[in-house]
Amino acid sequence: MSYLDKLKKAVSNFFPAHARENKDAEQTESAGPHGLPNIHVLATGGTIAGRQMGAGPRYQAGELGIEALLGAVPTVRALANIRSEQIANIGSQDMDEDIWLKLARRVNELLAQKNVDGVIITHGTDTLEETAYFLDLTVKSDKPVVLVGAMRPASAVGADGPANLFDAVVVVASPDSAARGVLVAMNGNVFEARDATKVSTTAVQAFAAPNFGPLGQVHDGRVFYWRRSDRASSRPLAFDVSGLDNLPLVGIVYGHANAPELPVKTLVEAHYRGIVSAGVGNGNLYHKVLGALADAANQGVAVVRSSRVAAGPTMRDVELDDTRYGFVAAGALNPQKARVLLQLALTKTQEPGEIQKMFDYC
Ligand code: SIN
Repeated sequence: MSYLDKLKKAVSNFFPAHARENKDAEQTESAGPHGLPNIHVLATGGTIAGRQMGAGPRYQAGELGIEALLGAVPTVRALANIRSEQIANIGSQDMDEDIWLKLARRVNELLAQKNVDGVIITHGTDTLEETAYFLDLTVKSDKPVVLVGAMRPASAVGADGPANLFDAVVVVASPDSAARGVLVAMNGNVFEARDATKVSTTAVQAFAAPNFGPLGQVHDGRVFYWRRSDRASSRPLAFDVSGLDNLPLVGIVYGHANAPELPVKTLVEAHYRGIVSAGVGNGNLYHKVLGALADAANQGVAVVRSSRVAAGPTMRDVELDDTRYGFVAAGALNPQKARVLLQLALTKTQEPGEIQKMFDYC
């Protein structure tokens, strides 16, 4: 038995779900050395690349390069041929649209290549859900794309980054992960980008999908899917951002008892093209804020009603007459995801009816 055959046999014994066979036509076309899938990792920083400062809990996100992170999980080399690239090295509180546009272009470029089977993006957890949803709306490929982060810095005792990164490779290497939209792999769960959100500031179980639950889980080097999202399979064509240098300005205003109208007025005066309201309950608005948003919509600003409540949809024309005010209802998108979709929608239209259709569909 040749060395190559021995290696393939060892891999298939250890990870039976990921030992792809040569008779798989697509794999034969793209398989690299050892018949393994070719995965490209794009690194952006975050706690997964964080380093502690001294003996205490303080640490700095976005310190280590991607090769150091991959070096902590050498077993991934038995699952895939891995290439990596550092796109940025920041804490994700500093994520911006320049990096989003760069990522969207790079991911589309990579996935168009026959010898790339999937992409992993390492990312800080703070804004991971927004980048995941942005890519979900802008990547034009059925090949798997997975975002992964960590809650503990790479140098911490019990760092969760290596296990999460290993799981991300497992997910991308699995043929079952195709055509599911952009995914998030965190703490053994696999989420769809649309529903995944950060629900804990500190726990390793930091992410949840409050409306629909995880799509699947990773156990012992295998991914098990429980369901498929209709949204991922029915989305016809991603937004094309290849020619864009920036995105329309969209702000979020947070609802609360006795809320002032000042934030809305400030955004309108600053020529924001869209405002997302993180309203109370079913997207409800303090009467002064409702007045200010109605004025904004009258002036042509796109107004989307979402909710500060963690789960459940913001429903159109139920408690509040969206049709009368020219508002858009966000459905199950939380305010930060609604902002992402509104930015992309505004690259095509400013018309509330057309934007509502995108929210109903995306
Ligand atoms: C960040 O989002 O970059 C810091 C927090 C984290 O990654 O968990």
